[in-house]
Amino acid sequence: MFAELERRIEEKRDQGTDVMSLGIGDPDTPTFRYIVEAMREAVGDPSAQRYPSNRGRPEFRRAFSDFYRQRFGVEIDPVNEVIPAIGAKECIYHLCFAFLDPGDVALSADPGYPVYTGGPVLAGAEAHLLPLRPDLGFVPDLDAIPAEKLEAARLLFINYPNNPTGAVVPDGFFERVVELAAKHEILVVHDNAYSEVTYDGYVAPSFLATPGAREVGVEVFSLSKGYNMTGWRCAAILGNAEAIKTYWRLKTNVDSGLFEAVQLAGAAALRGPRKEVEEMCRIYARRRDLVVEALRDIGVEVEPPKGTIYIWAPVPDGHTSTSFAELVLEEAAVVVSPGSMYGPSGEGFFRISLTTPDELLRAAVQRLRAHLT
Ligand SMILES: Cc1ncc(COP(=O)(O)O)c(C=O)c1O
Repeated sequence: MFAELERRIEEKRDQGTDVMSLGIGDPDTPTFRYIVEAMREAVGDPSAQRYPSNRGRPEFRRAFSDFYRQRFGVEIDPVNEVIPAIGAKECIYHLCFAFLDPGDVALSADPGYPVYTGGPVLAGAEAHLLPLRPDLGFVPDLDAIPAEKLEAARLLFINYPNNPTGAVVPDGFFERVVELAAKHEILVVHDNAYSEVTYDGYVAPSFLATPGAREVGVEVFSLSKGYNMTGWRCAAILGNAEAIKTYWRLKTNVDSGLFEAVQLAGAAALRGPRKEVEEMCRIYARRRDLVVEALRDIGVEVEPPKGTIYIWAPVPDGHTSTSFAELVLEEAAVVVSPGSMYGPSGEGFFRISLTTPDELLRAAVQRLRAHLT
């Protein structure tokens, strides 16, 4: 289905149509200058040029520990409760191999970041999908998980602020997750990719700030989106020391760690001034409002999200996710992502990413207005 969409995009481009993509979630603005400066210095440091340690440099671990205390009010032991990851994707994938055997189950948000389902399947286990219910604020109904799946579950993947729905965590949800995980001995993996990308005064919490979370879970914190560092592959896993050790044991057999210059630059990112992060959020908020308004003009009602770089919108009546994405491509030469790309429960929605420069985004929404009203 998506290969077909891609083929049509290529075909249109080959025919000379200027196709504009609002599909990809990769920040268009550069990594903050102070981080690049820190990297310039770090890359010349001979101590950072050798094989990295998979446990991470003390500077990296301490920066995370200080950041979690100041930003989230969470105490992290820099020795045992944090190590680097080569991006959240690597971390989530390898957690599947560290914790899942054939016959085991991972409980995976649907719609969700694709590795929550691809990782378990490639590890020989089962991904049991947890539909995110719009009526519950895009969280799963935890009471609806079948008993035999809970019995076989080893991992539970959640993510707030959420890709692709843009939802932020409803009050009390993390608490209910902790309770469920403790009862059924499941390791919770909270994918914290978007906590720094929020709007309208909303401040996203860490899952680890929930009482009991450290006993049952880990959090994966990525610098990709919050610091415009997608290409740097810089993240960390924090929380349950035993789980982190298990992940580390697997990793020592697989990769040789995160380039230490990147670790030093990541530490500098976390210790840096907040004004760049705030400016980045202002840019996305402006774009969000532009898109929400244009969608209203074409008859699509959406609540402006409080976080992430995505607008998640219902497709107009009579369309599936794919047929609407095809219509937008054919009529307006604009690419939106069909919601069903992110799992069966994404059917009926489409996703627009806010990572297009203002000028281009304005032109794209103008096309939507012109061709779809
Ligand atoms: C929810 C979520 N998790 C993880 C990632 C990937 O993070 P990283 O670049 O650190 O691998 C993304 C990227 O889009 C994402 O949306």
